[in-house]
Amino acid sequence: MTSYIRAVGAYVPQKKLSNDDLSKIVDTSDEWIYSHTGIKYRHIAAPEEATSDLAVAAARLLLDRAGLDAGIIDCIVLSTATGDYHGFPSTACVIQDKLGLDEIPAFDVAAGCTGFIYAVEIARSLMKANDYQNVLVIGAEKLSDVTDWTDRNTCVLFGDGAGAVLLSQADQDDLKGRGVLDSVLHAKGSGNQYLAVPSGGTADKNGENTCLYMDGRAVYNFAVKAMKDTIVELLERNGLTIDDIDYVVPHQANFRIINACAKRLGTDSSKFFLNIDQYANTSAASIPIALNDMVSKGLLKSGMKIITVGFGAGLTYGGNYLIW
Ligand code: UT7
Repeated sequence: MTSYIRAVGAYVPQKKLSNDDLSKIVDTSDEWIYSHTGIKYRHIAAPEEATSDLAVAAARLLLDRAGLDAGIIDCIVLSTATGDYHGFPSTACVIQDKLGLDEIPAFDVAAGCTGFIYAVEIARSLMKANDYQNVLVIGAEKLSDVTDWTDRNTCVLFGDGAGAVLLSQADQDDLKGRGVLDSVLHAKGSGNQYLAVPSGGTADKNGENTCLYMDGRAVYNFAVKAMKDTIVELLERNGLTIDDIDYVVPHQANFRIINACAKRLGTDSSKFFLNIDQYANTSAASIPIALNDMVSKGLLKSGMKIITVGFGAGLTYGGNYLIW
């Protein structure tokens, strides 16, 4: 049996904030933000919208689109860095309840912006070990809640949203080669201080800085190499070259990081799907939102070879190789 992506869905909050809107809040400009990051807009959740609400909206769209009932879901794996509650309960349990489900396992994965890639591999492994037929894998974030709206270095970069995939199992012969075939997961914990919400946890006693902190340059330098190394590792493990890949679906953090990665691989950056202009960096949600956009645009055809690749807080990095 092989796990494959049976359906996708995504949701972004209604409120859309442009670069010009931000230039009224902090000392920045559309020109700076777009030229340094590729971002034009980001969506911001309403105060009463929690991460679980974004995730449930993405899951409902997925189920509606595929004509499936939530009752078929055997397990929920949510990747998020901005859960509904601090510590516990897990947001996946809240999602289970909001979807009207009971008893099935539900838990959160914390791997920063690489979270969705980790979650897909965890789901795939659980399906093999426990014979789950359908696992709902979600990436959802309400980063606006941990954003310092007075800090121009970070507040222009992030947005809120959720994306979801349903991983299902099927016989290899029926899938004709399709499926999630391989993953590589890595972490470089020595870089944990470069991207963090420093306060509020057990390692911090003063509780003053509960907003996101980032050393942008350090993360940038790490990211280009991490993305390139991950893609090369996946290619080598699967006997492929970059020319065999139809699309790379990268974590949407900065189009300059993505272009630099494409250059190091000696390939055209048009192979890398980009939608950062519309959503900014939605952390664990960025890859499933990208997959949803690609489906909506009709870009993904059966048999296409896809690599997803990401990096983020931890510092974590990794990728999935799949045939659509
Ligand atoms: O999901 C993973 C999380 N994060 C990332 O992937 C982010 C990785 N890093 C980056 O994408 C880039 O490093 C940034 C976009 C964060 C910054 O771009 P940069 O080209 O590395 O700029 P910089 O940090 O070297 O700053 C250049 C200048 C600075 O001014 P001075 O010191 O040279 O006078 C900043 O103060 O740009 C200034 N600056 C801004 N100016 C206008 C920083 N943010 C802004 C802003 N508007 N929003």
